[in-house]
Amino acid sequence: MSAVFELKNIKVSLNNKQKTELVKGVSFSVNAGECLGILGESGSGKSMSIKAAMGLLDKNFNVSGSAKFKGDELIGKNPEELRKLRGGKVGIVLQNPMTCFDPLYRIGNQISETFLAHNSWSSSEIRERSIAMLNKMQIRNPEEVLEKYPHQLSGGMLQRIMIGIATSMTPDLLIADEPTTAIDAITQFEILDEFIRIKNEHSVAMIFISHDLNAISKVADKIVVLNKGLVVDKGDFSHIINHAKDEYTKLLIEKRCDVMRKYRQVLEGGKNAKIRKSMCQFQK
Ligand SMILES: Nc1ncnc2c1ncn2[C@@H]1O[C@H](COP(=O)(O)OP(=O)(O)OP(=O)(O)O)[C@@H](O)[C@H]1O
Ligand SMILES: [Mg+2]
Repeated sequence: MSAVFELKNIKVSLNNKQKTELVKGVSFSVNAGECLGILGESGSGKSMSIKAAMGLLDKNFNVSGSAKFKGDELIGKNPEELRKLRGGKVGIVLQNPMTCFDPLYRIGNQISETFLAHNSWSSSEIRERSIAMLNKMQIRNPEEVLEKYPHQLSGGMLQRIMIGIATSMTPDLLIADEPTTAIDAITQFEILDEFIRIKNEHSVAMIFISHDLNAISKVADKIVVLNKGLVVDKGDFSHIINHAKDEYTKLLIEKRCDVMRKYRQVLEGGKNAKIRKSMCQFQK
């Protein structure tokens, strides 16, 4: 099967005197109907790698390497074509929801603009679909929300709306950068289910960036771990749990095991409940 999205040796450096290297050669690929989880501590280059590939970096950055979407090279591609791709065949949920909305336009206008750019729906159909999308994302009073400006909504609401827009376009590739950080735990769970549903029903290739090993274990079929701009571990969840080489990855797993250990102690009422590494694994 050929990859929907494939990064080869992506490097990003700052356009300063020192040519500071931010991403030092990242490669990975993701197929249709598959979810790649990207883990890594803050500043490891998760967002930068994606932004470099999707043409979201300005002239302050140098990008080299290859990023192919369905065989088509994105590095060096015309900015207008890249813009069309984003929000169309490639859905992107960026880390900071505020930056994704124009503060001067009502939410309803921004949703319909995206819908209209890629479909020929009538205005009543767009309104119906916007309300249905907000309902699915568990936004209360959707009719009122359509009339609001971004600053009148919480970060969590904007994040959910962003996920709703990206997923309702049923893209071929969906990239979600820390998509649930501003969302409470219960809604997070439902949103993760929504990601899984879209991936399975529409065979979407998906990239899910997160610090949260639990969230990644739920949605991702395979994982890469970044550290200081390089891929330091990769494999499926059980490989990462059992064979991680990188210290940060080990720390994340150890934290996850600690939670499981405490849980078993409570269940078994014993202080010495032992836990094997394999028990840290999550049932999908
Ligand atoms: N606008 C910028 N200008 C200069 N350096 C930047 C900029 N944005 C990010 N960096 C640097 O690039 C490196 C990679 O950052 P990146 O945003 O990709 O990290 P990340 O893995 O996404 O972290 P987080 O989990 O905090 O989102 C870091 O060293 C960061 O300081
Ligand atoms: Mg980031």
